[in-house]
Amino acid sequence: MAQPFSTPDTTIVVTGGARGIGRAMADRFLRGGAARVVVADRDADQAQSAADELGERAHPMALDVTDEAAVAAAVARVEEEHGPIDLWCSNAGVGAGADLGDDDSWDVSWRVHVLAHVYAARALAPRMAERGRGHILLTSSAAGLLSNLSSAPYSVTKHGTVALAEWLAIRHGDEGIGVSCLCPQGVNTAMTAGDGKASGTRLGGAYLEPEDVADSVVEALGEGRFLVLPHPEVATYELRRAEDRDRWIGGMRRAWSKIRSAASPQG
Ligand SMILES: NC(=O)c1ccc[n+]([C@@H]2O[C@H](COP(=O)([O-])OP(=O)(O)OC[C@H]3O[C@@H](n4cnc5c(N)ncnc54)[C@H](O)[C@@H]3O)[C@@H](O)[C@H]2O)c1
Repeated sequence: MAQPFSTPDTTIVVTGGARGIGRAMADRFLRGGAARVVVADRDADQAQSAADELGERAHPMALDVTDEAAVAAAVARVEEEHGPIDLWCSNAGVGAGADLGDDDSWDVSWRVHVLAHVYAARALAPRMAERGRGHILLTSSAAGLLSNLSSAPYSVTKHGTVALAEWLAIRHGDEGIGVSCLCPQGVNTAMTAGDGKASGTRLGGAYLEPEDVADSVVEALGEGRFLVLPHPEVATYELRRAEDRDRWIGGMRRAWSKIRSAASPQG
């Protein structure tokens, strides 16, 4: 199957593109033949150095995805300078708030994991609908389908990402707008660099490299799949959760108890 979004006039934007999964997706799209990828990130310096490394078809852009006016202006500017946006990867994310978190961690998680995707969709959907084509990929997490034992703000807002992606797919699919939702488990990036051996994510299974995730994204986009699961076992876990919620919660409680005893071996 031909790689999607690889024609000589394809324009792609990746938010949170300066590092980690976003950078790997930008690299993968460029190596696959995309005409240009805009590497958008709140960290302007890192976006610039990532774009320098990725080559002349990578364009750095300073963008805070929680600023709606800035997101709308970015969409307009990219389309003026480069033509229609074929694929917008709404990928920026934060790991904020241990346990129940404080109000600030809820606020930033909500803004980055939910509102930022709403802002992108508000700016992009009318343009894509008018053209009858375009694709939006939202990065959630396996935590958005299951749970993240370490952080309620992360878990709850990533569920919000999945719900929003489903809503967009349902409401805008008939307008020719494709929607995908990326839900990886552990991936070796700056976000997880501090995960200890006994972290909930590590106990969930092996970590992938960002490049593996980018390969899964390209494969799923090529097959027109909504859900992108770089760790295929997540589909089984989700099925078990849906089949018997009480049993699933029991299993997760056992996992949490294992994490706690690993964290304090003296008991
Ligand atoms: N690493 C994992 O194990 C893992 C697992 C599941 C899902 N994810 C999700 O994948 C996405 C990428 O994560 P990563 O692991 O590559 O993390 P990362 O920390 O390496 O990269 C995240 C990038 O997002 C940028 N960013 C954060 N807030 C922003 C904002 N307001 N505006 C613009 N850019 C902003 C950061 O500057 C950073 O460059 C996130 O949505 C994350 O929640 C990661």
